[in-house]
Amino acid sequence: MKKINIAIDGHSSCGKSTLAKQLSKYYGYIYVDTGAMYRAVCLYALKNNIVIDGIVNKAVLIDSLENINVSFNYNDKKSISETFLNSVNVENDIRSLWISENVSKISKLKEVRLKMVAIQKEIGKNKGVVMDGRDIGSVVFPNAELKLFITASIDERVRRRSLELKDASIEDIKNNLLSRDYDDSTRDENPLIIMDDAIKIDNTNLSIEEQFNLALSYCEKAMAD
Ligand code: DC
Repeated sequence: MKKINIAIDGHSSCGKSTLAKQLSKYYGYIYVDTGAMYRAVCLYALKNNIVIDGIVNKAVLIDSLENINVSFNYNDKKSISETFLNSVNVENDIRSLWISENVSKISKLKEVRLKMVAIQKEIGKNKGVVMDGRDIGSVVFPNAELKLFITASIDERVRRRSLELKDASIEDIKNNLLSRDYDDSTRDENPLIIMDDAIKIDNTNLSIEEQFNLALSYCEKAMAD
């Protein structure tokens, strides 16, 4: 079977990374969570007072980009790939609502995207990668052999996110998802769009297993072509 790149795009909290992890494990492919990369840059910006009261000091952030090194390491014990910011494991820190509330301001910046996209393209150049994000099928891997666009109803996404963020209110989670949907889809740089050659999967009423099996059938076809 042919080695391919699998691009998975879609809105926040709709199960992209769950599917991407399953597929990467099944095929022995590298998994890259590109949202984690933007979250790590956001963490750096917040911790270094580059974002104050929700305002990003763009010039300072651009100057700091050369000091921001984001990488992934596979944790054998947990069987997951963890995100590192300048050699420090930040996998838990980047998942907080504090980051979710600020990350769109960082991910919309052209200079930040240029740096992240260059790293992502490099990782994918030998194929065998499953990457999830917002611009994977459109910008990072425009020639990916398989492009999946994952979606689910807003209420279902809020329900799933609230299971992960036990301390946050339903209202805060919903507002955050809606505002990130809006920001991701309307920004100038690499907005979230559905490519004509992407296969759309609405998983509102699918179990994780059902979604995985459906995606596997598309992968098998793409690998055989
Ligand atoms: O998938 P996520 O929620 O962890 O992504 C965090 C933020 O980063 C999200 O608000 C959108 C942005 N993002 C992006 O702009 N491009 C990507 N390829 C991945 C994520």
